[in-house]
Amino acid sequence: LIKAVIFDLDGVIISTDEYHYLAWKRLADETGLYFDRNMNSALRGVSRLESLNIILSRQGRQMSETDKLQLTDKKNSYYKEYLEHLTPASLTEDTANALTSLRKHGYLLAIGSSSKNARLILDRIGCGTYFDVVVDGNDIKRSKPDPEVFELAAKHLGVFPENCIVAEDSEAGIEAAATCGMRTAAVGYAAKIRCGDWNFDKLSELAKKIV
Ligand code: G6P
Ligand code: MG
Repeated sequence: LIKAVIFDLDGVIISTDEYHYLAWKRLADETGLYFDRNMNSALRGVSRLESLNIILSRQGRQMSETDKLQLTDKKNSYYKEYLEHLTPASLTEDTANALTSLRKHGYLLAIGSSSKNARLILDRIGCGTYFDVVVDGNDIKRSKPDPEVFELAAKHLGVFPENCIVAEDSEAGIEAAATCGMRTAAVGYAAKIRCGDWNFDKLSELAKKIV
């Protein structure tokens, strides 16, 4: 029995893929690192520091932990500049309708995101009030594909993992949810490669399936 839906934020509720791309690209150009859209795709669902580690390892570069911190801080300040473009109008009607319908039918709703900017993003798009629980990158020690973020969300919601379905656009996120015994609904990229138990084009299809 499904009692709760846990949503990844980025790429599910709102896509800021392009902002991540622009911010990493700007940093890479300044630092003499190679970065392209393909690499950006591999960073979905992965924490900021882990993302930099992936970028560095792909070009055999090493860096001190202090330098890494400085670079991830810089990337984040660029990313936050781009986030200024988000407004409540950025939330699609399909997503707003799906969230409203799920709430109306008594589902508990949560966010389970690797991002430390999740609350800022939710505020900017004006949809913080849809969710009973928000667990993000500030609350966890291990980023997806580790299931920590989803396990914590279920715990805060007061439901068992088997009563949750996770909506995700990243492979890492689908793996995280499956690892802790949650059902998975893939959207976006993850749906394209059909790695969810269910694969949807948009969130209203998920809502229709379970209400
Ligand atoms: C999401 C995005 C990733 C991003 C991660 C950390 O999972 O899909 O691309 O790296 O959040 O985001 P942050 O906002 O903390 O840098
Ligand atoms: Mg995502």
